[in-house]
Amino acid sequence: MKKNKTPKPLNFSTGWDYAPAPESTDHIKLEKQYDLFIGGKFVKPSGGKYFDTINPATEKKLASIAIAETKDVDKAVQAARKAYDTVWGKMPGAERSKYIFRIARMIQERAREFSVIESMDGGKPIRESRDIDIPLAANHFFYYAGWADKLNYAFPNRKPSSLGVAAQIIPWNFPLLMAAWKIAPALATGNTVVLKPAETTPLTALKLAELIRDSGLPDGVVNIITGAGNTGAAMVGHTGVDKIAFTGSTDVGKLIQKSIAGTNKKLTLELGGKAANIIFEDAPLDQAVEGIINGIFFNQGHVCCAGSRLFIQENVADIVIRKLKQRMETLIIGDPLDKNTDIGAINSKEQLQTILKYIQIGKNEGADIYQSSCSMPAKGFFCKPTLFLNTSQSHRIVQEEIFGPVLTIQTFRTIEEVIEKANNIPYGLSAGVWTDKGSKIFNLTSRLRAGVVWANTYNKFDPTSPFGGYKESGFGREGGLHGLMPYLKF
Ligand code: NAI
Ligand code: MG
Repeated sequence: MKKNKTPKPLNFSTGWDYAPAPESTDHIKLEKQYDLFIGGKFVKPSGGKYFDTINPATEKKLASIAIAETKDVDKAVQAARKAYDTVWGKMPGAERSKYIFRIARMIQERAREFSVIESMDGGKPIRESRDIDIPLAANHFFYYAGWADKLNYAFPNRKPSSLGVAAQIIPWNFPLLMAAWKIAPALATGNTVVLKPAETTPLTALKLAELIRDSGLPDGVVNIITGAGNTGAAMVGHTGVDKIAFTGSTDVGKLIQKSIAGTNKKLTLELGGKAANIIFEDAPLDQAVEGIINGIFFNQGHVCCAGSRLFIQENVADIVIRKLKQRMETLIIGDPLDKNTDIGAINSKEQLQTILKYIQIGKNEGADIYQSSCSMPAKGFFCKPTLFLNTSQSHRIVQEEIFGPVLTIQTFRTIEEVIEKANNIPYGLSAGVWTDKGSKIFNLTSRLRAGVVWANTYNKFDPTSPFGGYKESGFGREGGLHGLMPYLKF
């Protein structure tokens, strides 16, 4: 009888060899130059100025993008006001819903093109833009299309009505998805929109503008303008705006809040984060390690709810850290358009410099650094997945948002200690808990000061569930029924 051979253990340290599997780019259509989408048409910027958007993985220019000046912002707000007064504000919900539904369908139809452009303009792996960003963006429109004619059921006896014109400013980490998070609930509730994407990632928003034009949505209901912080500030300061929705840095969020004090403008802010990901000794450890990887290295750590502070219960710390390092060795960093890539490019040179600055700060603070030994592309903005061990609460790398693939690790003994440490931070956007015990999960979900607490999973999103923060992570909720409220008055 043949003896069963003991299987050889997998040698993770060498990883796997994968043949390159790049997604093709021949099916996408990009213009050389993009103007401002105002009143249903692309129009030239009044100052005639443009800036470049580049591919952060190759540092090559993708297109010239118009800079909207105060005059253009005014034009966009006026177009939105006109559309609100004459068409959209009066349209029955059931009719609005058909348009929103059509936008969702069209995003699905063009999903492949959107995914490739998202990865080229922002640097995220195609696997993520294809499987997460674009499908979730379509789902957001589907979901809010469903609410448009049911607002009276959502808020019974409260007579909800729309606000008017919403100015929406979004960041570069989930460009199309953030546009969907902002536009879909605003349209469902009967508001019109002026949206500005981030300056490093304007392309999918501009492709969305083309799609919206093709969808037959009445002119001026959605206006998409481009530019940097000055354009954003002009939107915030415009007197014709009723509502401001902002996602981005805490510093700019605070500026916006100050600048609209004393006005009637409604505001929602979704700002930074520094989430605790907490692993208890009774957690399914392999699953938890996947969750840690997904929580911080997913999208290069450009995630406001990234699980950037890891807390491991002391008696399993050694084994979790060992498994984590092994798993990090298998991560592939490189071409965002390659389907095998786990970690793509950092969104911009500036953001890479910020991350590298924090890595230096961590070293200077005396924490132990560990980086995976993966090969790095010669061109473009890339950063190795990085761990900082032996960190403490007072370290800047533990307190401040890095927004990159950098994880700090602390250990704990008791549940009280970890709650105290997890909450001892200016932010409160999200957290993760890994344990076999349901009562522990409930204890933590009620005591962690975080808008979202994931249990035995991480970074799971769904249009039906609300998302938003505590403390310096901002206020107001996006997603779900809650996400309708910031766009309504009662
Ligand atoms: P940012 O807050 O400057 O940019 C976000 C958006 O706000 C962009 O569209 C930008 O053009 C616009 N903006 C900039 N200044 C403005 C102003 N004065 N008024 C109105 N709009 C303005 O963020 P940035 O500089 O790209 O990233 C800096 C840090 O912010 C990151 O390192 C990260 O820590 C954090 N961040 C957090 C995000 C989140 O999702 N919560 C997203 C992006 C960045
Ligand atoms: Mg770009």
